[in-house]
Amino acid sequence: MLIAQISDLHIRPRGELAYGVSETNLFAERAIHALLRLNPQPDCVLVTGDVTDCGLDEEYAIAAELLSRLPCPVYAVPGNHDRREAFRRAFGAAGYLPASGPLNFTAWCGAVRIVGLDSLVPGASHGELSPDTLEWLNDALADHPGAPTLVMLHHPPFETGIGHMDKARLFAGANALERIVAAHPQVRRVLCGHVHRSIQQVFGGTLCQIAPSVGHQVMLDLHEDAASCFMLEPPEFLLHRVDHGRVVTHTAKVDRAPGPFPFILPREYPGEKRHAAPDMDDYVER
Ligand SMILES: [Fe+2]
Ligand SMILES: [Fe+2]
Repeated sequence: MLIAQISDLHIRPRGELAYGVSETNLFAERAIHALLRLNPQPDCVLVTGDVTDCGLDEEYAIAAELLSRLPCPVYAVPGNHDRREAFRRAFGAAGYLPASGPLNFTAWCGAVRIVGLDSLVPGASHGELSPDTLEWLNDALADHPGAPTLVMLHHPPFETGIGHMDKARLFAGANALERIVAAHPQVRRVLCGHVHRSIQQVFGGTLCQIAPSVGHQVMLDLHEDAASCFMLEPPEFLLHRVDHGRVVTHTAKVDRAPGPFPFILPREYPGEKRHAAPDMDDYVER
């Protein structure tokens, strides 16, 4: 099973740039092309929030059209730049979002369970998980203790060291989330966005993983008073490969790079000895 994770598209109305600089719509379109080029193709795509920049219906219409180009199911949670009811209007037809209340959901990608959490606080940059959402999560995880599970939410529940982003992380509910995740060892990842960089921390006995953005990246500045700035570093996304319940995560570039070049020499190096490849069955235990 192959599950792609894209994050922080920040779609703008047509012709407008995010912060006057970032061509987020073009970046998002490139990300869709990168996903369509993958071989093998992902079985589903997760979007960890900030789908739009301002939560406008016009922005959601563009996002929905872009995501509809993917041939596989797409599951998204809202970020602080999204607006809950506009998000529901845009993606409600896909059938996985509840008709009212927080945008929490469960879905299956083959034998892998996806649990989406709504950490959006209207009008705020930081995130929260309400007591009701935490109770819902605990019940949802208790329903299928044997299914390898990916929990996704926008706001990371830990500090990254980038001061201005840490002031906007998940606050209320973060400790309870860690306790719930620790009590359900089938959770293989807690997947977030929001920080626009690839960052990981062990959390509740599993790996909590922040995806880079498919658009602009937050500047790597590990100061408490870090300026709120972004960089046009190469856009990236994550690929989670699930095999026998274990998850291996790759970071992939959106843009094409020169290559591929085969690891074959035009002629042998002088004196080089070739060794036969080991038989992997001697090393792999399942
Ligand atoms: Fe974002
Ligand atoms: Fe965000």
